Amino acid sequence: MEAGVPVTSASVASGDGLPGAVEESKRAAAREGVDGYVRSGMVVGLGSGTTAAFAVLRIGELLRSGELRDVRGIPTSEATARMAREAGIPLVGLDDARPDLTIDGADEINPSLDLIKGRGGALLREKIVAASGGELVVIADGSKMVDALGEGPLPVEVDRFGYEVTLNTLASLGCEPELRLLPGEEPHPFVTDGGHYTADCLFPSIPDPAALEAEIRSIPGALECGLFVGLTRAAVVARGEAGVRVKVIEA
Ligand code: A5P
Repeated sequence: MEAGVPVTSASVASGDGLPGAVEESKRAAAREGVDGYVRSGMVVGLGSGTTAAFAVLRIGELLRSGELRDVRGIPTSEATARMAREAGIPLVGLDDARPDLTIDGADEINPSLDLIKGRGGALLREKIVAASGGELVVIADGSKMVDALGEGPLPVEVDRFGYEVTLNTLASLGCEPELRLLPGEEPHPFVTDGGHYTADCLFPSIPDPAALEAEIRSIPGALECGLFVGLTRAAVVARGEAGVRVKVIEA
């Protein structure tokens, strides 16, 4: 699955291979990602999701212990901003600074380190931060590695105005778009931090992620999609089957 991409380092940490191993893999990948790439004085884009949350906690831990100093974070979601404040990470906005590095999770990672992101609901801000400067380091458990992107739905953040038209146009690209709903007695649309809806678009396959990204971007109501093409410098991937094993894959 990772053929064609040089593996530049590998390390073994503890793990038991039992339920909870996925969480341990996320934690191990986040720790390795932070320890390997975040340095004192950096402005760090802070991703969103359960794996990125472990990275936020690790940065906070290293700031408290003094192993890191003068690190400032640019959060990619309100949830990450809250967590970073609680962890003691000073925050700045993109108006004040650009990231030296962004550390974030992913939903799917292909062998070229192109990604699908956004199933956790924060893709537009994640992409703005990742594309604004510096390098993107992805942290993930091994289940996120795929041979080709598109095993699951591709999230697309859409404007609420005319969203049904936008979903129909997305369908014309060959997918089945579904408006993301929050469960409840009366299910209602999930609304992103930016106040938008999300369409989860299942394609039969995504042979050319860059071409699909360009096509989706050409649709007026489609604000951004979860394809991250050519942005990733390294993926730090941990697998928990026989103890947590972390691999760093560089693009
Ligand atoms: C947030 O919208 C997403 O892009 C997440 O980064 C991605 O879904 C990975 O999330 P987990 O780390 O929770 O699997």
